[in-house]
Parts: sequence; C-alpha cells; structure tokens
Amino acid sequence: MTLHPVVAAAARGDLPSWARASDKRVAHMGRVAELLDRWARAEGLDPRTRERQVALGFLHDAVKGMDADTLRDLVGPELADLPDPVLHGPGAAVLLRRDGVDDEALLLAVAYHTLGHPDLDAAGRSLYAADFLEPGRDLRNGWRSRLRQRMPHDRTAVVGEIVQARVLHLIEHRRPVRSETVRFWNVFAEGRSWARASEV
Ligand SMILES: [Fe+2]
Ligand SMILES: [Fe+2]
Repeated sequence: MTLHPVVAAAARGDLPSWARASDKRVAHMGRVAELLDRWARAEGLDPRTRERQVALGFLHDAVKGMDADTLRDLVGPELADLPDPVLHGPGAAVLLRRDGVDDEALLLAVAYHTLGHPDLDAAGRSLYAADFLEPGRDLRNGWRSRLRQRMPHDRTAVVGEIVQARVLHLIEHRRPVRSETVRFWNVFAEGRSWARASEV
C-alpha cells in the first residue's frame, strides 16, 4: 500500500494546503518529526512505515493556528464539547479525510495526539510521546531527557509514564479527564501491550 500523496508530502516536511501553523509551530512539528524518524530508524522500520510515522510529526499540529470556531464547525457535534486547545487534532483528521486519506489508524493518531486513545497504534503512541518529549519544550527537562533516552525500545513504559503525568496534572488542576484518556491510561494500568498495526 502506498502512502496518500498528502501523507507522503508531509513526510518530506511539505504541509497540506489547508495548514494553518506559525513558524514556531512548524519548527515544533519538525522536531517531533525528527524524533519520529530517529525512533523509526532505531526500530528498523521499512521505509514506508517510517515515512508514515514521520508524516505524523508534520500533520498533528497542522491546523493549530486555525480559530476555535472554525475547528468546532469542522469536527461536528460529536466532538464539539472538546476544549479549544485540543480541537486542532480532530480538525486536522477531518481535513485529511476530506483529501481522501483513508488510513484510519493514521487519522486516529492525528485526532488523538493530545488526549490519547486506547486504539492508538505504535506510530500513534510514538507521536504521543514525541510531541511531549521533543527537546524544544521547556518543561521538566531532566525527566523528559531521561524518557527520550529510553525511546523507542521502552516505548510502552515511557508512554505509560507520560499518560500518568498528564492525567495527574489534570486532576491536580481539577480539570475533566476525557473517557478516551482514561481508557488509554487503563491500557497501561492493566498491563496490556500492543502489536504494530501491520501485525494485528
Ligand atoms: Fe497538538
Ligand atoms: Fe504538537
């Protein structure tokens, strides 16, 4: 199966025509893509699987610069109750689908890169980790650097630690935790592991 042209272009760093992202955001996406590329090579993934994973770096925040009302219209009633800061994932997934992308696991990875989701495949979980661990973020840098060093060989445990930290943060700030996030956490708490999408 070949990659959709929009996904193949993103793997080269060419954003879709509908992208709305500041230079700062594009730089962040580049650092995420770089980590995803490094981890894919360390895992020995075949070129297509690696490109698909790298493309996630350049697609996940592609409409982070779009206004919340436009994004809310795009995602429809089912996700309209999402808080503004997480609408850009589902919004990008809708626009990719409109372009003809039918890789459901890739669309899920883009849509749920902030919230997490129990059905994320290996690339989706790597994106979830790379988005949090990329070195341009200034947040708990020692801890994040140690987690980076454990990727990709210890991905399940690393992603579990990130989900734990994010859920605790939400609870400490008395913010709601989405059911998708709780179910993502339960995958780790119950010790379940995943196979690569291609192996399922
Ligand atoms: Fe994001
Ligand atoms: Fe991001």
